[in-house]
Amino acid sequence: MATFTLPKNSTIGAGKTFKAEPGAKNVKSFKIYRWDPDTGENPHTDTYEIDLDKCGPMVLDALIKIKNEVDTTLTFRRSCREGICGSCAMNIDGLNTLACLKPIEDVKGDVKINPLPHMPVVKDLVPDLNQVYAQYRSIEPWLKADTPAPPDEERRQSKEERAKLDGMWECILCFCCSTSCPSYWWNGDRYLGPAVLLAAYRWIADSRDEYTGQRLDDLEDPFRLYRCHTIMNCTRTCPKGLNPAEAIGKIKQLMVERQG
Ligand code: SF4
Ligand code: SF4
Ligand code: FES
Repeated sequence: MATFTLPKNSTIGAGKTFKAEPGAKNVKSFKIYRWDPDTGENPHTDTYEIDLDKCGPMVLDALIKIKNEVDTTLTFRRSCREGICGSCAMNIDGLNTLACLKPIEDVKGDVKINPLPHMPVVKDLVPDLNQVYAQYRSIEPWLKADTPAPPDEERRQSKEERAKLDGMWECILCFCCSTSCPSYWWNGDRYLGPAVLLAAYRWIADSRDEYTGQRLDDLEDPFRLYRCHTIMNCTRTCPKGLNPAEAIGKIKQLMVERQG
C-alpha cells in the first residue's frame, strides 16, 4: 500500500475551488487536504463552497454532502455518525476531533480539514492506522486469568471495582490523543502513545485480570511507557472527555510502588 507522511512544515499546494451553486446565501468554505497516491501529484488543498442552508450541522454532514453532490473522489472514514465508532477522527480547525461531533458553526471563518497529524496517509483524510493497531494488539487488550470463571456465571466485581474502569472503557480508539502527542510524533515506532497506554491501564486496573505483574513488566521500558513527558495534549484533545495522561501517571505510580 502506498503511503505518504506529511513532512513537518511542508507546504501544501493550492488546488481546485468548487464554487457554491448560484443564489446560495449562506456559504462556507471547506479547505480540505487532498492526496491520491495513484496520481503521483503532490498533496494540495481543495476548496469546497457549501450552502449551509442545505447542509446538516456537523462537519461530517458537509463532508458527506461534498462526496455525494460535488466531488465523489473525496475520501474519508466514517460509520456511526454519533461519536461511537471513532472512524471520522481528523484535524479540524487545528484540533484533532471527530467530524461527526464537530458543529460547523463552532468554526470561525473557513473550515480547514486535514488528516490526523504525523501519520502516514492512505488517501486524502484517511490515515494509515496499522502501526497503532499493532501497538494496541501488543498490550493484549482482553481479560487474562488462569482461574476458571465460576460455572454459568460471569466473573463478578464489586461496584467499587467496576467504578475503577470508568473513564477508560469509554475510549473509542479514535487516536485523536496519540496523534496530538509530540512524544508519539517523534517516537511513535517505539513509544506506545496515550490511547494504547490508556487501554493498557484499563486492563491493569481490572480486578478480574490476573496478569497485572506481567502487564507492568511489558511496559517497563524507556520507550514504551516513559516517553510520556506529561505535556497533556492528549487529555486536552480527547473528544470523549477522557484523561489518558492521568492513566499514564497511574501506571508510572504502580511502577514506583512495586519497586519500593
Ligand atoms: S501527557 Fe504524555 S501521552 Fe499525553 S500528550 Fe503529553 S507526552 Fe503525550
Ligand atoms: S482516549 Fe480519547 S482521544 Fe484517545 S483514543 Fe480514546 S477516545 Fe480517542
Ligand atoms: S462517524 Fe463514528 S465517531 Fe464519527
